[in-house]
Amino acid sequence: MLDIIINSLWLIIPAYCANMLPVLMKGKFPIDFKKKFIDGHRLLGDGKTIEGFFSGIIFGTLMGLLQIYLQPFMGQFYIFQFQHNLLTVILLATGAMMGDLIGSFVKRRFGLERGAPTPILDQLDFLVFSLAVVSVIIPIELSWVIFLLIITPILHYSSNIFVFTLKLKDRPW
Ligand code: CTP
Ligand code: MG
Repeated sequence: MLDIIINSLWLIIPAYCANMLPVLMKGKFPIDFKKKFIDGHRLLGDGKTIEGFFSGIIFGTLMGLLQIYLQPFMGQFYIFQFQHNLLTVILLATGAMMGDLIGSFVKRRFGLERGAPTPILDQLDFLVFSLAVVSVIIPIELSWVIFLLIITPILHYSSNIFVFTLKLKDRPW
């Protein structure tokens, strides 16, 4: 079990890091250029910005490069089976940000406003798409996918509470 936890988390770090950054960026320029789809709703909405998208990819990739740097050391521990390379890192970071866009595209097609809570989709869009993309070049164990599908909504939810709490601390009172 410990090997599933360690290897699946090591695998997904670039995607997690990518997905984490946009919310801190406070981007201004919507990636859909405020364009509407044929259904009259926004293509993606104001919650998906160019700054957020690219900063996420860059940050996720940088964290992945740090992992690659650390791997020779981590590899000494038998439990580390999975090793990143430049391509896995870029695909995971980019896949995460693409999956996030796809999630918003789907939400807008259901007429949901930006920020409308959509359980499961909000937490898993980036995960499922980044795993799908990276699985094209490397084999991924089913047990890792199952573990990540379970743990990601929990981590997503708790990190949202954490960010919310930080914002509360920013208030003057
Ligand atoms: N964000 C961004 N650019 C992105 C993704 C996210 O700027 N490509 C920022 C936005 O400020 C967004 C916040 O991160 O409001 C939280 O992201 P998310 O919850 O995915 O967006 P929502 O605002 O909830 O919009 P949606 O309903 O489309 O998911
Ligand atoms: Mg949201």
